[in-house]
Amino acid sequence: MKGKKVLVGVTGGIAAYKAAELVRLLIKADLRVEVAMTRSATRFVTPLTFETLSGNKVIAGMFDREDMAMDHIRCGQDADLIIIAPATANIVGKIAHGIGDDFLSTCMLAATAKALICPAMNDHMFLNPAVQDNLALLQKRGFFIMAPESGELACGTDGPGRLPDPSDILEQSLILLSKRDLEGCKILVTAGPTTEYIDPVRYITNRSSGKMGYALARAALRRGAEVVLVSGPTTIKPPPGIVFRPVKTAEDMRRAVFEHRNGCHMIIKAAAVSDYRPKETADQKVKKGTESFSLDMVKNPDILALLGETKKAHPCILVGFAAETEALVKNARKKINAKNLDMIVANDVSRKDAGFQTDTNAVKIIYADGRVEDSPLMGKIDVAHLILDRAKALKDESP
Ligand code: CTP
Repeated sequence: MKGKKVLVGVTGGIAAYKAAELVRLLIKADLRVEVAMTRSATRFVTPLTFETLSGNKVIAGMFDREDMAMDHIRCGQDADLIIIAPATANIVGKIAHGIGDDFLSTCMLAATAKALICPAMNDHMFLNPAVQDNLALLQKRGFFIMAPESGELACGTDGPGRLPDPSDILEQSLILLSKRDLEGCKILVTAGPTTEYIDPVRYITNRSSGKMGYALARAALRRGAEVVLVSGPTTIKPPPGIVFRPVKTAEDMRRAVFEHRNGCHMIIKAAAVSDYRPKETADQKVKKGTESFSLDMVKNPDILALLGETKKAHPCILVGFAAETEALVKNARKKINAKNLDMIVANDVSRKDAGFQTDTNAVKIIYADGRVEDSPLMGKIDVAHLILDRAKALKDESP
């Protein structure tokens, strides 16, 4: 993914301001970005905004720069992806009917890259049969159309026409840019902590943020897998396009995992499951009284061990995580054997730059045959791709 090139076409709608955030997110995802704006778009946001964010000169007019005479041919051919966001009714109509009367529309005539069109406009304009027919025509010709969201629009009406959140456009773009080597593969991922209730207002939990599990779900989705994400409470927005099962307790998680396990090619248990729960959950808030208070706890089901015990009847690549503060490899190896796993990803959770709540991770991948592989410190999305690469290799090798 690193270094792939994206051309962002910005046209003249109020949502042009959201394109600035999209460019920032694309750059953050390590992509190279060039921006082409229509003249109307420059009335909403200045080219300087996009130049600062992308680090590249913005192309707004066909004859702006003498040294770039062939840009209208080059731009759409050396990009890996073209995103038009926001796409007005005007640009949609021009692309559909082969009109090239400015830089962006001419560039689209010569383009060979995949294109993602994100229409955003007034709801009546969007629902106009001419616009709908033009969008259908583009879709038929292989353009990817990202449907606008419904809601309150800048013109004061309520309906379909809002540009999707830039993070959702980024996710769709990364799906279009990724290799699709997990197509046909069903992957279940668990993420986040579980919460075990003492009473209606208090619970026991742990420091897991869910970042690693969500990165795995995202990476698998981008590579074409059918993804089920069973997640304890986190603050992360699940990516669109996955089956999302939010849960709270370990018992909820067990039920959800067993509901979705059929047909899974891989199950990756990144969740930090509470090992114990209060024996009783009080119906009412517990009042303070005595000087000390102790809680009777009972063991939760070990979901991963239950999956391992029944793996013969449901063959799949079973990947566990081991959160350790000492004797990383030794403890992780014990868990591989005890839970009948194919692979375990061991995390030293005492490190500041890895494990719980961080954006980076450095892991040891330990295999059932004893091999140990060290990963360097990487972003969690890169660790996720590495884990998926290794799990896929095991799946491809298995009979
Ligand atoms: N796990 C699970 N159900 C549990 C506890 C753990 O499915 N009740 C899974 C986790 O999702 C993880 C793996 O088992 O993939 C290891 O979890 P970890 O907390 O590291 O180890 P435990 O088995 O709970 O052992 P300990 O807490 O003693 O280290």
